[in-house]
Amino acid sequence: MSKILFLNGPNLNLLGKRNPDIYGSKTLDDIKLLIEERAKSLKVEVLFYQSNAEGDLIDCIQNQRGDIDGIVINPGALTHYGYSLKDALLDAAIPVIEIHLSNIHGREEWRRSIISDSVTGQIAGFGWRSYTSALDVIVGVVADSKVN
Ligand code: DQA
Repeated sequence: MSKILFLNGPNLNLLGKRNPDIYGSKTLDDIKLLIEERAKSLKVEVLFYQSNAEGDLIDCIQNQRGDIDGIVINPGALTHYGYSLKDALLDAAIPVIEIHLSNIHGREEWRRSIISDSVTGQIAGFGWRSYTSALDVIVGVVADSKVN
């Protein structure tokens, strides 16, 4: 069974309370439940981890090395300057989907992504649906990578 790691970076633990007009009213636990339900019907295993510290996210990626088939990551503000996280994602050498609740391309200039050139693809602007869509996509991408 494929195993997908869902990573969430700084401040995403405050989802639901944090700028709900931009990030929506669901908490990270609400989103986790949606993902776990969908994962059951897709017959894949999911692992969820959130940290406000870049090093902890990197440790998680390194500790899961060899055990996971794909990564879905919302790096929070690390999207914009997290070069060690970017290196860790590259070193993982498995499909990675970068996601954002908001459409970072329509926001402040500093919200450009420094990791998008190193990931398999990006989904941004669909609120909690960015997470569920990413699960659907990565399951297909991982299945393709096992066939090829
Ligand atoms: C975010 C966008 C980032 O710019 C911001 O720092 C976040 C959330 C999003 O999901 O839209 O923390 O990644």
